[in-house]
Amino acid sequence: MTTHKQLLDHLFNDYQNINPSVKKIHRLFQNENESIINDHIAFRTFNYPEINIDVLAKPFLERGYKETANYRFEQKKLTAKHYEYSDDPSAPKIFISQLETQLLSQKSQDILNKHVKSNLNQIPDREEILTAGNIWEKPKYKIYESLLEESEYAAWLYAIGFKVNHFTVLVNTLNNFESLEKVNSFLKQNGFPLNTSGGEIKGTPQEFLEQSSTLADMIEVEFYEGSYQIPSCYYEFARRYKMKNGSLFNGFIAKSADKIFESTNIKK
Ligand code: NI
Repeated sequence: MTTHKQLLDHLFNDYQNINPSVKKIHRLFQNENESIINDHIAFRTFNYPEINIDVLAKPFLERGYKETANYRFEQKKLTAKHYEYSDDPSAPKIFISQLETQLLSQKSQDILNKHVKSNLNQIPDREEILTAGNIWEKPKYKIYESLLEESEYAAWLYAIGFKVNHFTVLVNTLNNFESLEKVNSFLKQNGFPLNTSGGEIKGTPQEFLEQSSTLADMIEVEFYEGSYQIPSCYYEFARRYKMKNGSLFNGFIAKSADKIFESTNIKK
């Protein structure tokens, strides 16, 4: 079995290969002599037992990660868990969310039952699932559009499948950027648009967590009907604050994450 570090490197390589902006942004920070430490890595899935959060978490649990907290995002109809690796403080947290499909409209539930749930015959083993992409069927653009009407998350997952949705740079560990505002203006100056839903910065120092993110790259995806450009993944930036007891807040805030999920919305 690979180590957690090898697995994380593999995930980052896969992620930057699909998202050209990630590679460019990573290089920009390296050119500023920054060595990047990631705060967390995020995955998305459906709540079907064959592929739910616990299935995706397995490769991390096997390598020593422990479940730390769980969350509910009412508006987006998601639940999530986060995992930490206490033996290695530089290891990013793993954040895995799942769509609570039973809360969707009957129409969307029927679509997902037919096009995803009934096509879960071959689930990639072990860590292979984390980068497997779409394992259900060649996506149909008509289905994608129909899911998009109700849940961007469902549409994204139906078309893209299992991929790291985002890596998140821990701004606290950057040497030349003492605030998230500085990071944001640096990104914009270099031509990377940010997700402005709910403001560029989600969360406040009083909530102990501020986050911002780029808009997802548009990538060409091969659909049944032909190829179409759709949003892929994004890069996130987090600044954490100390709580009253003096330790850094390590959790996530449902309210701001609701907005940051919109980084994969189609650019208008
Ligand atoms: Ni995140």
